Amino acid sequence: MAIDFKEELKNMNIENMGKQHFFIQTYGCQMNEEDSEKLSGMLKRVGYTKTEVLEEAGIIIYNTCCVRENAENKVFGNLGELKHLKKKNPDLIIAVCGCMMQQEGMADKILKKFPHVNIIFGTHNAYKFPEYLNRVRTEGVQVKEIFNKETDIVEGVPIDRQSDVKAFVTIMYGCNNFCTYCVVPYVRGRERSRKSDDIINEIKDLVGKGYKEITLLGQNVNSYGKELEENIDFAKLLRKINEVDGIERVRFMTSHPKDLNKDVILAIKECDKLCEQIHLPVQSGSDKILKKMNRHYTKEYYLELVDMIKKEIPDVSLTTDIIVGFPGETEEDFLETLDLVERVGYDSAFTFIYSRRNNTPADMMLNQVPDADKHHRFDRLIKAVNDGVIRSNKVYEGKVVEVLVEGPSKNDETKLTGRTRNGKLVNFVGENIKAGDLVNVKIVRAQPFSLIGEV
Ligand code: 5AD
Ligand code: SF4
Repeated sequence: MAIDFKEELKNMNIENMGKQHFFIQTYGCQMNEEDSEKLSGMLKRVGYTKTEVLEEAGIIIYNTCCVRENAENKVFGNLGELKHLKKKNPDLIIAVCGCMMQQEGMADKILKKFPHVNIIFGTHNAYKFPEYLNRVRTEGVQVKEIFNKETDIVEGVPIDRQSDVKAFVTIMYGCNNFCTYCVVPYVRGRERSRKSDDIINEIKDLVGKGYKEITLLGQNVNSYGKELEENIDFAKLLRKINEVDGIERVRFMTSHPKDLNKDVILAIKECDKLCEQIHLPVQSGSDKILKKMNRHYTKEYYLELVDMIKKEIPDVSLTTDIIVGFPGETEEDFLETLDLVERVGYDSAFTFIYSRRNNTPADMMLNQVPDADKHHRFDRLIKAVNDGVIRSNKVYEGKVVEVLVEGPSKNDETKLTGRTRNGKLVNFVGENIKAGDLVNVKIVRAQPFSLIGEV
C-alpha cells in the first residue's frame, strides 16, 4: 500500500504557516533533483515562495549527496558559511536532508559541528518536511528525525518542476545491487517500484500541462516491477508509456549492464517515442576489477551488449559512468578501461576518481591506489573519452536532426538551445520558435560538447 501524501498533510495540523521565501541547494544525481522538486512542491503547497537568492530566504534547505567524499565536503563548507547569515537573522531556518543524513552518525556530527542547523531528516521521511517545519516554527525546537528503513512508496506529493518542457518521473526507488564501492543501497534502501497506473497517470497529467519529454528515473530501471503484483517488467512499462498520447519523447536512466535485456532494446527500436539513448555505466574495463566491484559482467559481455544495441538501434547514443583507482587497479587494468572506451566510442561519460566510503566492502580492501596514480589515470581517461565524443559529434556535421527546443541558450542569447532525440545538445539560430517546439535543425559545426546548427 502506498502512503497518500494528501492524507498525511491533513494529519500534519498545518495551519497558517505564514509567508516565507525558501532556497534549496541540491547536490548529486537526478534522483536528488527530483526529490528537491518535491520538497519545493510541498513548500509551495503550504504557501511559501521559492527564491534563487540565498540572502533573501527565511528557510534554507541543503539536499545532500554522499556518493563521493567531495560532495560531502561541499555541504560542510556551505553549512559553515551559513553561520554568518544566521547571526544576522536568528529566525532563519536551516534544514539539511538527503542521502548524507542516512549515514550512521552523520546527523549528530552535523548538529555538533553546525548547531545553527534546525532540521535534519533523511531520504525516507522527506514527505514529513512540512510537519517538521511547523514544529520548529511553533515550538522553537530542533528536529532530527531519520528513518533507518524505507517506507512504502509515497504518492501524491506535489512536484515543483524546474522545466516546463521536460520532466523527471521516478519509476522505482532504492537499489539491491550492492556494488562494493557504492553507498546508495545503504542510504536509499531496497528496490521498490511504483504501480504502473500511478506512473501512467503522472505522465498523463504532465501531458495536460504541456510537457513534451519525460525521463524515467531509477537506480536500476531494468529491475522495474520485480516485486509488484501486476504482470509487468521494464520493457512492458516502456511500451505502455509509448501509448500515452501527447508525450513526444521518453528517456530513462540508469540501466545496469547485467540487467539490460533484449526486450528493452527492442522496445526502444520499435516504439516511436522511446529515444535512442542508453546510459549504461561500465565502471571499469578490467574483468578482475569488475569482479571486485560486484558488477556481475565481464568486459566481453559488455562489448557484446554494446554491439547488439548498435546493431538494433543504429542512431543510438551511449553514455556511461567510469571509476578510476578502485582498490587493486593496476596500470594493466586501467589500460583495459582505456581500450574499452576506445572500442565503444561513448557519446559522453561521467568519469570519477574512486572515493572511499565508510562501511562499504571496497573501503576495507587492501591495495588502495595512491592518489597520484588515480589522478594520472583520471587525466588520461578524460582525454580518451573526449577524443571519442569529438569523433561521435563530427558525424553530425551536415546532417539534419530533430531538436526539442528548451529556450534561449545560456551562453549565447542570440541562439536557442535544445537536444536531439539521442540527447545531443544543439545550439542554433532560428526565428519564431519557442520552448517546447520540435524543429529540424541542420548541423553546421560539431564542438566537443555541443553541436552548432541552423533551422
Ligand atoms: N567513488 C567514485 N565513484 C563512485 N560512484 C559511486 N560510488 C562511487 C565511489 N565510491 C559513481 C559510479 C556510479 C555513479 C553514480 O557514481 O560510477 O555509477
Ligand atoms: Fe550503486 Fe551499483 Fe546500485 Fe548503481 S547499481 S546505485 S552503482 S550499488
